[in-house]
Amino acid sequence: MKGLDDGVGIVTGAASGIGRASAERLAAEGVQVVVADVDQDGGEETVNRIQDDGGEATFVEVDVTDAESVEAMVEKTTEMYGPLTVAHNNAGIGGDALPIDEYSEDQWEAVHEVNLSGVWRCLKAELPVMSDSGEGAIVNTASMGGKVVAGAPPYVSSKHGVIGITRSAAASYADTGVRVNAVCPGIVDTPLVEEDDNQEGIEQMVSGTPMGRKADPEEIASSVAYLLSDDASYVNGQPLLVDGGYTAV
Ligand code: NAI
Repeated sequence: MKGLDDGVGIVTGAASGIGRASAERLAAEGVQVVVADVDQDGGEETVNRIQDDGGEATFVEVDVTDAESVEAMVEKTTEMYGPLTVAHNNAGIGGDALPIDEYSEDQWEAVHEVNLSGVWRCLKAELPVMSDSGEGAIVNTASMGGKVVAGAPPYVSSKHGVIGITRSAAASYADTGVRVNAVCPGIVDTPLVEEDDNQEGIEQMVSGTPMGRKADPEEIASSVAYLLSDDASYVNGQPLLVDGGYTAV
């Protein structure tokens, strides 16, 4: 894909699932990748997989609920590889599946802290670096749950919020040369889905998917790479649904 070779990138949540596939795909496209996650073992495994395939990657521990940790992630990236050119803000959690009136304050906030405020903290640290250099592209991981009801209530509200902040960032920073889009996966075969307490709900969503199957993480990573590349040079502020047709019917 155009414009990724020699880039400098960060992928959060890159110790597992979609983030790992995205980090691997970006590295294969020639991006020097910071694999960022709270999970050090998983992150180092992603780095080893990338290096075994001849790519360049480094693990940086980050907790997207902590602003200082997120700022340090961006600073370390710039120190190691130069100014950031691409970022995939992807770390996310499913949270407990309950009716709305049964959530405690802490359970509700925990999901929003990672899924929505975590994306905001990443944008806050990344956008100034990119706008200073006059170029850059960002993809935030939302979900088809950002467009329709698919998942637990705080998951759905946090992912609707990710689409909202994506549009706000795209509109505000377009004149600096930075593009911001979101990817909205359907059901993807990752640990987040395997470990969901509501397996019946997952099966219903898979059977409601016209393609009749889950996505592989690599099928989401290829859309992320496209949105981050110059092949998408006029795509901005868009939530790209990669859901096997779930929201089409
Ligand atoms: P996963 O559970 O395989 O990976 C999530 C990664 O995020 C893990 O490595 C985890 O350690 C990391 N993470 C969690 N909290 C963090 C924090 N506070 N700071 C830094 N890293 C943290 O899950 P998966 O499926 O790969 O999910 C990735 C993203 O895709 C999430 O935002 C999720 O909501 C979204 N998504 C997933 C779908 C699916 O069906 N698997 C569907 C739609 C969206």
